[in-house]
Amino acid sequence: MTETELERLANSLTLAEQVSLLAGRDMWHTVAIERAGIPAMRVTDGPTGARGTEFGTGPASINVPCGTSLAATWNPVLVEEVGALLGRETRAKGARVLLAPTVNLHRTPIGGRNFECMSEDPYLTARTAVGYVRGLQSQGVASCIKHFVGNDTEFERMSIDSRIDERTLRETYLVPFEAAVTEAGVMAVMTGYNRINGPWAADSVGLINEVLRGEWGFDGVVMSDWFGMHSTVEAVVAGLDLEMPGPTRFRGQQLVDAIESGDVDAALVRRSAVSLLRLMSRVGALDDGGPGDETTRSLGADVDADVALVRRAGAAGMVLLRNQTVTLPLDTSLIGSIAMIGPNAAIGQIMGGGSAHVVPTSIANPLASMQARVSELGIEVVHARGCNINKRLPELDPSLCGPIEIAFYADPDQLDDAQAIPLLVTESPSAHMIWIDDPTSRDNVDPRFGARLTTTFTPDVSGSWQFSIESVTPTRLLIDGVVQIDNESAPAGGSFFGIGKAESRVSVELDAGVPCPLVVEVRRPRIGLAMSGFNVRAQAPVIGDLLSDAVRVAASADVSIVVVGTNDDWECEGWDRTTLDLPGEQDELIRRVAAASRRTVVVVNAGSPVTMPWLDDVDAVLMAWFPGQQMGESLADVLLGVIEPQGRLPVTFPARLEDTPAFEHYPGRDGVAEYREGRLIGYKWYDTVGREPLFPFGFGLGYTNPVVVGATFGDDRSTVDVTVSNESDRDGVQVVQVYVAPTGPSERRGDEPVQRLVGFARLDMPAGQTVTAPITLDPRATMTWSVEDHAWVAADGRFELRIGTSSRDTPIRLAL
Ligand code: BGC
Repeated sequence: MTETELERLANSLTLAEQVSLLAGRDMWHTVAIERAGIPAMRVTDGPTGARGTEFGTGPASINVPCGTSLAATWNPVLVEEVGALLGRETRAKGARVLLAPTVNLHRTPIGGRNFECMSEDPYLTARTAVGYVRGLQSQGVASCIKHFVGNDTEFERMSIDSRIDERTLRETYLVPFEAAVTEAGVMAVMTGYNRINGPWAADSVGLINEVLRGEWGFDGVVMSDWFGMHSTVEAVVAGLDLEMPGPTRFRGQQLVDAIESGDVDAALVRRSAVSLLRLMSRVGALDDGGPGDETTRSLGADVDADVALVRRAGAAGMVLLRNQTVTLPLDTSLIGSIAMIGPNAAIGQIMGGGSAHVVPTSIANPLASMQARVSELGIEVVHARGCNINKRLPELDPSLCGPIEIAFYADPDQLDDAQAIPLLVTESPSAHMIWIDDPTSRDNVDPRFGARLTTTFTPDVSGSWQFSIESVTPTRLLIDGVVQIDNESAPAGGSFFGIGKAESRVSVELDAGVPCPLVVEVRRPRIGLAMSGFNVRAQAPVIGDLLSDAVRVAASADVSIVVVGTNDDWECEGWDRTTLDLPGEQDELIRRVAAASRRTVVVVNAGSPVTMPWLDDVDAVLMAWFPGQQMGESLADVLLGVIEPQGRLPVTFPARLEDTPAFEHYPGRDGVAEYREGRLIGYKWYDTVGREPLFPFGFGLGYTNPVVVGATFGDDRSTVDVTVSNESDRDGVQVVQVYVAPTGPSERRGDEPVQRLVGFARLDMPAGQTVTAPITLDPRATMTWSVEDHAWVAADGRFELRIGTSSRDTPIRLAL
């Protein structure tokens, strides 16, 4: 539709109809106005798959590598392909908007959602995000980039006030959003839960109206994060178009009243209605008859190609950090047996937790993939778990349960009334339920009900079983008719995106093979939220000594591959980590395996950095991130040398948490997070204040390591031609990086970084060849944000370009 037609359509609506468009109908849809032929439109999470409207159930989705893994490819062209895959998946879920990508920065390496985000560096994040958005939007769907802005911690995540000075905001945290708007034409933006320098992000006139729309020319939709809008007047005035989710809490009649009393100008409502209609028109949602069915794409060549792409992308993000005595790639002609050890070896962690979670269409696990790949070569693969890393107990295994039935009662008190008749009785595949809407379909804003889960649990091992409950509202667990847990007074936090209660545990002696009745009773009063749910967890008694078993297995094999890392207990929306250390006994496991093993390869399966106190004891280390559902195949491709390790670190790996830039000011106090480190985020901090990282930003090895041998300026100094040489007889890859550094007086100027990334190129490097390729420089390479002028200005002083293969290895210099 043309702008005139959009205006005409908006003008044909009554004020109340226009207002109705400015809030969701429910969790995932906008409101339809049938009289005017405006259908509803579906949105869906993002960013590591297109989930659809259900959490943990519903049609499966292809799960792609997490944000850090994508950024670690330093390959925006590949990321664009992944974006296009996500566009196809979004359409298969009948949706027109994917709530992705997440481009907040890794201010601290323990941020709970870092795995979703891309990097500590604004330039690398911007390049990656532009690729992602372009690919996604090429499929006729909108990208909703998030979370605008300063939403960099899960600490007090629904209220923290991020205090960020103007220059730091402009030169750091806003950069990826700006690039997505001005270069990729992103169609939607989601505001953060946080406050930013005082006002809620959703109420920020300065950021939404002035910067995003005024300066950057954004004409798409600004929507709130889920339940992250707090006002009737301020948010409309700031330019926040769409309150999500619905039904509305602040708009509807309240907004109509505010207009009638003169507190809000009706023109603002019209403008937001036009924004929404414009977005719908751009993605074809005005004439598609409303949201389609939610499906898993039917198998076929294009789905095969997409799964192959996930495998390729997952491998491309893996970063080889150490490779002593050429342990990798594994030489299968010299190996008779491989020990696959570690808590993430049999079941890899393919994604992080929270709203980014999807049900994958299939999973390739490390152990199974390695077995399949090498067994035909006569190589034996043995396995040992080594240790457990669950922060919480594992989820109750439905295969040990009879049918799981859930009865819903109109009122929580009816759980005490044996005569009460349930409103609804259903079966569930698991004892983990997230209720987004009202499961009794009566009132989906903040429903009141009671729920009773009934099943029979038959233990497969005798001994002391541990059970636990997590829930949003008071819940009891009864085993054999005895109340074992009543979590009414359990502390808040730690489950269900941070709104649920902490896990409550109990130990119960059980005999193998003897069925016992298991009942869960959930009392759900009104709580001011739509969401609720519960989760039953259970852990069998541990038999034997996992560590000793692992050592025995390691000693018997020619090489040990130890797959360690985190899981979504640790890296999840809702809470930050508290330490960089690997959870559980993993450090000890690696030390003991390394001592017993002929060769030890450590694969770190985590979304963000961990410490490595065992680094000198092992032969090789590969950072695998959360690489998506093809994890096992991607990993085997890299370990066996089918694919060259070509990822480079998109974040600094610190030696200790105490060394990290925000450490002194994290997490904040009295509701405020002061970003006192200013622009010194990530490597800029380590390089400027002189801290030694464990591994620097941009670092990564290959099986061959082509050398940067020269660089000259292109014609107009907006590009640099770099020359790279691969003298080996193996094809390789190099990622050449260009940093700009002020020269001249060496005294520090406030938080000015000693260097920052302004360009890079990932080059295929055939064996024995020298390649020359242009690198385009960030047009703002020598500019700075002037707080006096509120504008970009040429920075004072002289500069040089530093060119090399990591932030700490830049042998080639060019005066600028
Ligand atoms: C997250 C968003 C997400 C939304 C919808 C929120 O909890 O912060 O990133 O898109 O939920 O699931």
